[in-house]
Amino acid sequence: MPASVVLGAQWGDEGKGKAIDQLAAESSWAVRFQGGNNAGHTIVLGDTTLKLHQIPSGVTSTSCNLVLGDGMVIDPWVLEEELDRWYNLTKERPEGKRLFISERAAVILPFHKLYDSADKVVGTTGRGIGPAYRDRIERVGIRFVDIPFLIEDSDKIEETVDRMNKQLDSVGVLERIEVISFKSQLRWILERYGDSIKHTGSMIDIALKNGENVLLEGAQGAMLDIDQGTYPFVTSSVTSRANATHGAGIHPGHVTNCFGISKAYTTRVGNGPFPTELPYDEGPGQHMAMVGHEFGTTTGRPRRTGWLDMVSLSDSHRVNGYTGIVLTKLDVLGGLEELNICTKYDLEGKLIDYMPTSCEELALCKPVYETHPGFPALSEQEWIEMAEIAREGKEGFNVLPETALSYVRRIEELSGIPIVSIGVGPDRKASIASLGGPFDVDPEVATF
Ligand code: GDP
Ligand code: IMO
Ligand code: MG
Repeated sequence: MPASVVLGAQWGDEGKGKAIDQLAAESSWAVRFQGGNNAGHTIVLGDTTLKLHQIPSGVTSTSCNLVLGDGMVIDPWVLEEELDRWYNLTKERPEGKRLFISERAAVILPFHKLYDSADKVVGTTGRGIGPAYRDRIERVGIRFVDIPFLIEDSDKIEETVDRMNKQLDSVGVLERIEVISFKSQLRWILERYGDSIKHTGSMIDIALKNGENVLLEGAQGAMLDIDQGTYPFVTSSVTSRANATHGAGIHPGHVTNCFGISKAYTTRVGNGPFPTELPYDEGPGQHMAMVGHEFGTTTGRPRRTGWLDMVSLSDSHRVNGYTGIVLTKLDVLGGLEELNICTKYDLEGKLIDYMPTSCEELALCKPVYETHPGFPALSEQEWIEMAEIAREGKEGFNVLPETALSYVRRIEELSGIPIVSIGVGPDRKASIASLGGPFDVDPEVATF
């Protein structure tokens, strides 16, 4: 089987890390194709919780090769911390052996983080993502492949440092970049990662030609896409399916599956309109935040919460053509008396079924809801046991409480997309797969 794409279908943090981890055992490559360490992907294996920012979530499967792909912006210092955490846990050093960095990926420099710290509008993660992509688009960025040439070119280094300092000055950031430390940082990157920097597009292409399975791991989500999201409250990369192959350096014809990961409700971190948003400190919004532990994996900021929004999900499907939905965090809704699904927006008296392009108009949209009965709250262990019965007894979704199942079926009906897996807890085992579907895999397979 060829390439499968895993994407966030909402505003990020839908549970992409868990989905990639579940598919990794059957794949020999997991590739991040955009974004950087603005991402925070969580994998829970019993008592161990992994929070990955740049390392692909296929790392848990030791037979899975890992690529930080062409379309990424990479912070080499954060990557070092991640690799050290992985080493402390497993005593494995995958870099250069099964973890490779694309020559074409761009380097996030201390300058980019300093520049990002001046953001007052978007509520970015402050990781330097936008400034690193801006340099890339301006054709002044530094790709990993460029570092050896740049180290030899003193004039260019001085020009680069001068440009960076002028830009910091222009946004009122007081820190300055020094030529000497900049040079030594570049040398360190080469020494640390020289063996891992490769022409990764060709490596993935060869794997596909050999019939291997490749996972393309999205970061952020459809509504954070620079072109198709809620601009300007978006990230700085194309998060969508169309960029999955491009950002990995292969062609789109390889893709057979595209999984959209969506929570059974909605969350958003950072600023920007959010039509189904609920008050954070009372009622169902507070329930989702508390029971779902809705705090950003990267920044720890509280995530805003709201009901499931089928208008945005259908826009995200228009762009990405999901072949299946992974519906996560259904367990979190347990205990709520009623569940709402937004089916349309009311824009100043007019009912619409698409997201207006301007954020000014989107902010005026009022959600139109249909209401469904809720289902009881269960403990984490009870959900895991239910998932085990679903798997071992070949029951699939039928194990769900009746009202939970009708909520799920209604989402399928409204979206027109089959649901291939339902998340009922953070743990790898806490998922109910559609029988015989792509997620109907053994959660006990050997990992690290
Ligand atoms: P990602 O960025 O899309 O990989 O998602 P994050 O890891 O940032 O956030 C998802 C959070 O929800 C993590 O803390 C996961 O452990 C957790 N999670 C994932 N799936 C489920 C689920 O089905 N139920 C519950 N309760 N938690 C889940
Ligand atoms: P994962 O991969 C949720 C949000 C930020 C901000 C906007 C722009 O874990 O789902 P940036 O730093 O990218 O310039 O910030 O995008 N954002 C995310 N929100 N999950 C993410 O990643 C995000 N990455 C960026 O909060 O609103
Ligand atoms: Mg996340």
